[in-house]
Amino acid sequence: MSNGCMETILNRRSILHFKEDEIPEDVLNQVLGAGLRAPSPGGSLTTGYRGIQAFSIIVVRDRQRRAALNKMLCDGKKECIEQAPVSLVFCVDLHRVNRWAELQGGVPHFKGVGVLWVALRGTYAAAQNSVIAAYSLGLGAQYVQEIVWQPYETLQFFKLPKRVLPVAMLVMGYPAEQPPLAPSLPFEAVVHEETYRSMDDKELIESFGEKEKYFREWVESLPPDSRHRQAMDAKGVKNLAQFVSLMTYTESFYRWRDDVVRSNLAMSELE
Ligand SMILES: Cc1cc2nc3c(=O)[nH]c(=O)nc-3n(C[C@H](O)[C@H](O)[C@H](O)COP(=O)(O)O)c2cc1C
Repeated sequence: MSNGCMETILNRRSILHFKEDEIPEDVLNQVLGAGLRAPSPGGSLTTGYRGIQAFSIIVVRDRQRRAALNKMLCDGKKECIEQAPVSLVFCVDLHRVNRWAELQGGVPHFKGVGVLWVALRGTYAAAQNSVIAAYSLGLGAQYVQEIVWQPYETLQFFKLPKRVLPVAMLVMGYPAEQPPLAPSLPFEAVVHEETYRSMDDKELIESFGEKEKYFREWVESLPPDSRHRQAMDAKGVKNLAQFVSLMTYTESFYRWRDDVVRSNLAMSELE
């Protein structure tokens, strides 16, 4: 049995190319409203306090600011940030809840990694609610990872107070393309009954089969002198696992990103 919501979820795909058409205000408000209606940790059904909602969403529409954002985050290389009429930046926001507690005679002690964990979970639930709402309204979107790897400037760019930190960014607009659906891991690899079941080696390798096939098709489509192909040849990369572990998640990747996250948390006084 299918329904509209399932169809939206199953047909969603990340969009890189957008039409220039603006998103009408009422449509964007529905997308944002869907974010606000996401489940939120902190509070419970039984205590009379339903969800801490420790997040804020910054809407970036201004063309020049989108261009500046692209430059700041991606050296101007991510065209979709400028092409899509709207960027939504989802921030964990412990500033608001701390001020509120203080103003109301509570204790403004919402900080530390544990509380950040609470806020982070709710923020991503909100972002993904907005994504699904957007697709159901004919829009497309793409997450932009760079928002979490370039902390210093973003704090100023968005005039963020302490304890507010961007953790997710979406570019959004009307799609100018319909890319193929991404291959998913099979059920057996991801879904476990009651307790975790480790796959045997053969099964584990096979579970990545669809992703491997997609990757190989991509490699075959590359011209011989392409940057990716040359880098892969130089490292002797033969399959997707090697590509991911040797070329993307490299040791310097970990070191640099660990450092960024730590200093980011320190600067935002969130640790
Ligand atoms: C938190 C998050 C950050 C992401 N960041 C990027 C990104 O910076 N660039 C990109 O091309 N895709 C990004 N993606 C999208 C993934 O590449 C995409 O979801 C994946 O390839 C599967 O494709 P699909 O979304 O079309 O199903 C991100 C996805 C998530 C959930």
